[in-house]
This record gives sequence, C-alpha cells and structure tokens, in this order.
Amino acid sequence: MTNTTQSSRHALLTRMLHGGLAIAIIVQLASSQFMSPDKGGNTAFEVHEYAGLAALAFVIGFWIFSLVRQRGTPVAELLPWASSARRAALWHDVHSHYTAFRQFKLPSHDGSSPLASSIHGLGLLLMTAMAASGTLYYFVNAGDPDAGGLVGAAMLIHKTLANLVWAYLIGHAGFGVLNHFGKTMSLRTMWSFKK
Ligand code: HEM
Ligand code: HEM
Repeated sequence: MTNTTQSSRHALLTRMLHGGLAIAIIVQLASSQFMSPDKGGNTAFEVHEYAGLAALAFVIGFWIFSLVRQRGTPVAELLPWASSARRAALWHDVHSHYTAFRQFKLPSHDGSSPLASSIHGLGLLLMTAMAASGTLYYFVNAGDPDAGGLVGAAMLIHKTLANLVWAYLIGHAGFGVLNHFGKTMSLRTMWSFKK
C-alpha cells in the first residue's frame, strides 16, 4: 500500500483534528502530574487550562466534521448503540477479535471494524466529557477545586473519568503501534499530513 492510499482513508481535516486532539490530551495528562490548581494555580495548571480549552475546540471540530465529511468513518459507526443491526455487527466483531486473541493472533485490521469504530466513538465521548467538565470548572470556579455545588459536580466527573483517559490513550495508541509493526495497518493512515 502506498503512503497516499493509506493517508487517503481519512480526510486531511480529520487527520489534522485528530493530531491536534491527541497532542492536547497528551499535554493534559502530562500537566495533570505537576499542577496545583489552588489559589490561581501554578504554570502547569495554566498549561492544563489552555490545552484543555484547545482540546474542547478540537473535539467539537471533530464531531462537526464527522457529520459533514464525505470520506471517513460515519457518525453512525462511531456511535452504533441506537441501531440493533449495528449492535449485532459489533457483537460479531467482538467475537472475531476474541477468537483471534485466544489464538495469540493480531486481529486483521479493517478500517470499517465495528469494534474499532465504536471504541473510537467512546473515546471521543470521553474526551468531550473531560473537556466540557474542565471548561465548566474554568467558568464557575473560585480558585478551589474542592468547593461544593457546580464546581464539585464538574470535578467529580473530571476526576472520575481521568483514569479512563490514560487507559484510552495507552490502549488506542498501543493497538496502533502493534498493528503498525504487525504490518496490518500503517500509522500513516492517521499521522500523515499529506493532502
Ligand atoms: C480533554 C481535556 C482534559 C483532560 C484530558 C484533563 C485531564 C485531567 C487529569 C488526568 C486530571 C487529574 C485528575 C486526578 O488527579 O484525579 C485533571 C485534573 C484537573 N483538571 Fe483537567 N483535563 C482536561 C481539561 C481541563 C480543563 C479545560 C480545565 C479547566 C480549568 C481542567 C481543570 C482541571 C482541574 C481543576 C483539575 C483538578 C486538579 C486537582 O484538584 O488536583 N481540566 N484533568
Ligand atoms: C487520546 C488521544 C486520541 C484520541 C482521542 C484519538 C481518537 C481517535 C479517533 C476518534 C479515531 C477514529 C477517527 C475516524 O475514524 O474518523 C482515531 C483513529 C486513529 N488513531 Fe487516534 N486518538 C488519539 C491518539 C492517538 C495516538 C497517540 C495515536 C498514535 C499511535 C493514534 C493513532 C490512530 C490511528 C492510526 C487511527 C486510524 C485507525 C484506522 O484508520 O483504522 N491516535 N483516533
């Protein structure tokens, strides 16, 4: 497969929004290790605030573009939950992946895999919830993330979901790298910025 055909599976804007979102999320996870939000916060917290607001813009941009783009995964495949036919296809795909893993095989990577697409959709929902709860905190906080009311609700959601962000990044990027070296897919599918 040539680089052009690999990268042409996803529109250039999809690849750019994905790259921006991925980098923003990595900055969020890194800054969360060093930040202190109390009394106005330190530099790491400032980085967390601004990269978090950028993540919100990227994730909203991703949702809007996935509704209008001609090329790429349809929203109905990212969010298959409302359709019984799509749920059946997802279940069938889960079973094929399970069978492959039991035989210690890497499942053949298919760009239209219902399982992969539904996990990508859940990842987008997760990042939306993180960025939205963080942004809500940004507008309602008075310098204390342990305050009650709306601040407390925003932080409860934010901190509860935080570990899932680590799990998603490690799982998703890990599978990408495994497939790349297993030669079932190239990372250039998403990480080439050629037209
Ligand atoms: C997708 C975007 C975001 C991600 C992935 C993210 C990730 C994280 C993570 C991993 C933590 C650590 C949780 C813990 O220690 O239990 C955290 C905490 C926090 N984040 Fe975010 N964040 C995002 C956006 C934002 C935004 C926009 C703000 C706005 C100010 C924000 C404000 C905070 C605050 C105040 C804390 C709590 C710090 C503490 O009490 O120790 N986050 N975030
Ligand atoms: C936490 C940050 C990330 C998020 C939220 C994210 C989200 C997504 C989403 C939603 C898709 C599906 C796009 C579509 O079909 O329209 C996707 C695909 C992809 N992602 Fe990520 N991603 C992240 C980080 C990464 C990283 C760090 C890598 C590098 C290893 C990566 C590699 C890929 C690849 C190669 C695809 C294409 C898979 C295919 O076409 O079958 N992603 N990602």
